[in-house]
Amino acid sequence: MKYIKLYFLVALLIISCKPIQESTSISSKSTSLIKQDLREIQGGMWIPSLLEGMNEIEMLQLGSKMTAKDIYDVNNSSLKDAIVHFNGGCTSEIISPNGLLLTNHHCGYSAIQSHSTVEKDYLTDGFWAMNYEEELPNPSMNVTFIKRIDDVTSEVFKGVTATMDEASKLKIISQNIEKVAKTTQKEDWQNANIKPIYHGNQYLLFVTETFDDLRLVGAPPTSIGKFGSDTDNWMWPRHTGDFSMFRIYADANNHPAEYSKDNVPYKPNHYLPISLDGVEEGDFTLVFGFPGRTNEYLPAVGVAQIVNVLNPARIEIRDNSLKITDSFMRKDADIKIKYASKYASTANYWKKWIGENQGIQKSNAIVKKRELEAEFTKIVNEKDLEAYKTLLSDFETLYTQIESVALAREYWSEVAYRNVELLGITFRAYQLEQAYLKGGEPAFNKVRESALNTFKGIYKNYSLKVDKPVFERLVALYAEKSPKEYLPSTMKGVNFTELTNNIYANSKLTSLEGAEKLLSGTPEEVIKKLNDDRAYAFGKELHTIFYNNLEPKFQALNLQIEAVQKQYMKALKEVFPNNRFFPDANSTLRVTYGQVKGYEPKDGIYYNTTTYLDGVMEKYVPGDYEFDVPKKLVDLYNAKDYGQYGENGKMPVNFIGTNHTTGGNSGSPAIDAQGNLIGLNFDRVWEGTMSDMNYDPDICRNIMVDIRYVLFIIDKYAGAKNLIEEMTLVHPKK
Ligand code: ARG
Ligand code: ASP
Repeated sequence: MKYIKLYFLVALLIISCKPIQESTSISSKSTSLIKQDLREIQGGMWIPSLLEGMNEIEMLQLGSKMTAKDIYDVNNSSLKDAIVHFNGGCTSEIISPNGLLLTNHHCGYSAIQSHSTVEKDYLTDGFWAMNYEEELPNPSMNVTFIKRIDDVTSEVFKGVTATMDEASKLKIISQNIEKVAKTTQKEDWQNANIKPIYHGNQYLLFVTETFDDLRLVGAPPTSIGKFGSDTDNWMWPRHTGDFSMFRIYADANNHPAEYSKDNVPYKPNHYLPISLDGVEEGDFTLVFGFPGRTNEYLPAVGVAQIVNVLNPARIEIRDNSLKITDSFMRKDADIKIKYASKYASTANYWKKWIGENQGIQKSNAIVKKRELEAEFTKIVNEKDLEAYKTLLSDFETLYTQIESVALAREYWSEVAYRNVELLGITFRAYQLEQAYLKGGEPAFNKVRESALNTFKGIYKNYSLKVDKPVFERLVALYAEKSPKEYLPSTMKGVNFTELTNNIYANSKLTSLEGAEKLLSGTPEEVIKKLNDDRAYAFGKELHTIFYNNLEPKFQALNLQIEAVQKQYMKALKEVFPNNRFFPDANSTLRVTYGQVKGYEPKDGIYYNTTTYLDGVMEKYVPGDYEFDVPKKLVDLYNAKDYGQYGENGKMPVNFIGTNHTTGGNSGSPAIDAQGNLIGLNFDRVWEGTMSDMNYDPDICRNIMVDIRYVLFIIDKYAGAKNLIEEMTLVHPKK
C-alpha cells in the first residue's frame, strides 16, 4: 500500500489555520473539521467505508499517515482485508501471506482447551505447531472476512411512510432486507448480511466470506496468556501475554471449504506487517475490529436505570454466587478445576459492571446527559421541531413502565437461567416439555437429544456441594428483591433452607444418571416424571412466568423504546449538526483511533503507558494459579535475552491508548500511523469501562499486548522460528 502524504497538508493547516486555498485537494468544508483540542477527535467506532472527510482528517491530525482508502478499499487491497471476525465473538488479523491469524488467548481458549488432555495439557504448557502438519483442526469454529460494504438505506426503506405504526414499518423493512440480500451481486461462496446502524436510521449491506477450516497454530501457557487472571482483569497496570494463533485453510481456488486435509493455507489480499519499533506516548493508534455493543445515546433516564437499578441487582447476585463458589474452589482442587472457567466468565462482567457504575458516577455522566437533554429541548422548541417534542417525555414514561419488568427479567436470567446450575438444567427440561406441546414427538426427540448432549457437558463440571448453597442464597435474594408481581407463590413466605434441602434431596436432576433416567421413555412418561420432580416443578413456575408474562411485556415495551431511540438518534444528529455521532456498535466492522496515552485514575496518581517484564516478575507468586510464571520465562528475564524484541534492555509487555473499544474488540489489531501491527487489543481499564455508555478521552483506555512481547514469546520462549519467518518484520521509525 502507498501512503499519500496528505498529512503534510493537514499539518500545515493546523499550524497556519488559514482558510484553505482553492488549489488544494481538501475542500474548504474540511477546514471546519480541524479541531485544536485533540481530545475532541477521539472516541467513536466508525464505519470503515465512510471514513473519507471527517474521520480521515481527524486521523491525520492525530498523527496517522494513512488515507481512508488505505484502510478500506473495494478495488485494491487495504487494511480491511486483513481483519477477520473470529468465531462470531472476537476479532483476529492476518499476519502472514499464508493465512496466519493472530487473536487473544481468551478468544482461542475453548479451542485450546478442547485439544487438551491430562497427558497433553496445552492450557498449562502451551502449544506450538512447528509445521503445517502439526496444526490442529477446530470443526465447530469459523472466521469471516468483510469483502464489501454498501449503503442500502433507500432500498430498505422503500414503501415505508412516516404515518405507519412501528410494527408495519418493521415488517416492510424486513421484507426489503430479504429482497436486497437475495438480489445483491456476490459470488456463490459469499454471503450478504444487512445490518442497521444509527438505531435503524441507516442500513448497510456486508458481503462476507466465511472460512470453516481453521487450525490451531500456537498458544502460550495460561501462566503467560492469562497472567493475572481475574485479579488483574479490567485493570492497569497489566502484564498479560493474551494471544493465540490460528491458520485459515482454503480450497485449491483459495475459496472457503469444509475441513479437508487437502485444503491449503489461505492467501490473503493483505496481511499486516509487524513493527519492531514500539510505541511511545502520543503515537497514533488505530484499532480495527468487531465491537459488540455500545449504548452511547441512551437518555439520562436509561443510563440511570442501568446504573441504579439493573447493575446493582446483577452485581449483588453475582457477588453472592462468586463468594460461595470461591470458598469451595479454595479448599477443593477438583472443584477448582471444574469451576475455573465458569467462575472467570461470571466474574468478568461482575467486575465490569462495578467499574462501569463507579465511572458513570465519577464522571457525572447522568447530570451531563440531563444538561445535553435540556439543550436539546431548548433547540427543538426554538426551531419548533414538532416530531421531536415528545421524545424525552416518551422515554421517561417508557423507562418508568419497563423498570420492574426489566428488573424481574434480570433476576430470572441471572438466577433461574445463568447462575444456579440446577435451575438452568430445569430450563432445558422446560424447553423439552414445550417442544412436545408445540411440535409433538418429532420435536420432542430432537430437543431431548440436544438436551442430553448439553447435560453431559454441564454435569461433567457440576458439583452439588457448590450449587446447593448457591441455590439457597440466590433464590432467597430473588424472592426478596425481584418485583413481587412476577414471583410464583412457591417463593413467597417460605423457609429457603428447608426448600433447598427438600429440592436437592429429592430431585433426580442433580446428577447425569438421574437426568438421563428422567428423560428416558415415551414423551408422556418423561413429561409426567419431570412434573413429579421437585426441582423441575420449582423451575417450571419461574420459566412459565418468564415466558407467559415477563418476556411479552418486556418485548412490547422494548419495541416502543427502540422506536423512540431511533427517532432520538435522528433528532440528535439534526439538532447538533456539529457534534460527532458514531453509530453504536453492533458487531459490525469498525475503526477506532486515538493515541498511546497514560491517565490519572485518582488524584495524585498517574498511570504510565507501558508495562515491562520486570512487572511480571514483581507480581510473580510461585505456584499461585493467577500469578505463577514459567521457569523458562524467568530464565530469559534473568539473562535479559530479548533478542531484537527488547527496548533499552527491557521487554515491553502491555500498553494503553485512548482507542474506544468494547467486548468483541478482543483480538483486534492495534495499528500504527503507517498500517503496521504494533499491538493486540484485549481489555480496558477499570475506571473506563463506562465507555460503553459514556466514552471519556481523559479516563477511557484500551489495553493492548505490545506486539514485541508476542514475538518474543513465539521466538525466544517457544522457539517457533518457523512462525517468525512467515511474518514481515519492519522498522518504520528507523
Ligand atoms: N475483560 C476482558 C474481556 O472482557 C478479558 C476477559 C478474559 N480474561 C479474564 N481474566 N477473564 O473480554
Ligand atoms: N475483553 C473484551 C473482549 O473480549 C474487550 C473489552 O471489553 O474491552 O472483547
